[in-house]
Formats: sequence, structure tokens, C-alpha cells
Amino acid sequence: MQEIDLNELGKYVDAVNDIQSNWMLVAAKKDGKVNALTASWGALGSLWRRKVAFIFIRPSRFTKEFIDVSGRFTLTFFNGRKKEMGYLGKTSGRDVPDKIAQAGLTETEVAGMPTFKEGRLMLSCRVLYTDPIEREHFLEKNIDDEVNPDGDRSVIYVGEIEKGYLL
Ligand SMILES: Cc1cc2nc3c(=O)[nH]c(=O)nc-3n(C[C@H](O)[C@H](O)[C@H](O)COP(=O)(O)O)c2cc1C
Repeated sequence: MQEIDLNELGKYVDAVNDIQSNWMLVAAKKDGKVNALTASWGALGSLWRRKVAFIFIRPSRFTKEFIDVSGRFTLTFFNGRKKEMGYLGKTSGRDVPDKIAQAGLTETEVAGMPTFKEGRLMLSCRVLYTDPIEREHFLEKNIDDEVNPDGDRSVIYVGEIEKGYLL
């Protein structure tokens, strides 16, 4: 485990393609318990003179409760592990409390924040801002129809990336 210089973050992660094609796990801790979901929506970038991560979490996700209570989340990137992430992306911690172990991944902590032994990079984030996606704000309603057929529209989280670690 090695802390990275966030000014060199681009060396370790492709902010578009790693998220879109390789996915990431969003993890958060509440009352000593960790929950995580697979995410392929998001971005890493610059906002308000800070390095930030944008993630999009639907209200129905159990992980959302963990993020909201703790005000923090981590992003973990992997080499491969699509099978494990596929399982975590369709199984809720509400139904399967030990879903991380069931997926075959090993929870660990780095600087008090949850991540996974099998990961390659973890970014630790503090929530700065949240905003719910609303139908009225789509300029192209067909996108809302396509991605939110049941109205479970995501909440946008802007998290300041506080630390990054190679796992
Ligand atoms: C490839 C992939 C990408 C996903 N991306 C997101 C996402 O960006 N935001 C989200 O809220 N859910 C996303 N999901 C769905 C959640 O990972 C899934 O509903 C998960 O089971 C929620 O678990 P939880 O209820 O324990 O939080 C994705 C699922 C997959 C398979």
C-alpha cells in the first residue's frame, strides 16, 4: 500500500474509460459496517479549486444510506474482477448482508476508509455537495426515459478526493 501524489492521479486512472469500461466499487462505512456497489457512472475532475469525484447513486441503493450517514465514500479500481463487480452490481446489501464476501472480495481499511485487498487503486472522498437529478432538467427527455424508466433518478455526489493509495 502506497499513498500517491494526487497531482499525478492521471498516471494511475483514466477518468473516463476506467469508470465506463472497467467499473469501480463505491464503498462507505456506517456503524462499523461496510457496504459497496458497482458503478460505471461518474467522473474525476476539477471543481471549486479541488480535485473531485462525481458519482451518481440511485435512492434505492443501500450504499446510499452509508454515504449519507458518514459523509464519505471510497472509489476502488481493479484490474479485471468483472465477475465480482457484476455480482456486487446486482446484489443489494439489504438482501445479502455479507455480499462482499459472497462476491469473493476481501474488505480492508486504508487510513480508516473501506476498500478491497484485490483492488489496485483507492481514492478516499469527502462529500461536498449533493443534488438530485430531476426530469425537468433533462434537455433530452429520451435519456431520462431510457435510464430512469421507473423514476429512481440518481443523486449526484461531488466528493473531494482527499487521498489516493495504490493497494
Ligand atoms: C456495471 C454496473 C454499473 C452500475 N453503475 C451504477 C451507478 O453508477 N450508480 C448506481 O446507483 N448503481 C449502479 N449500478 C447498480 C448497483 O451496483 C446495484 O444496484 C447494487 O446491487 C446496489 O447495491 P446496494 O443496494 O447494496 O447498495 C451498477 C451496476 C452495474 C452492474
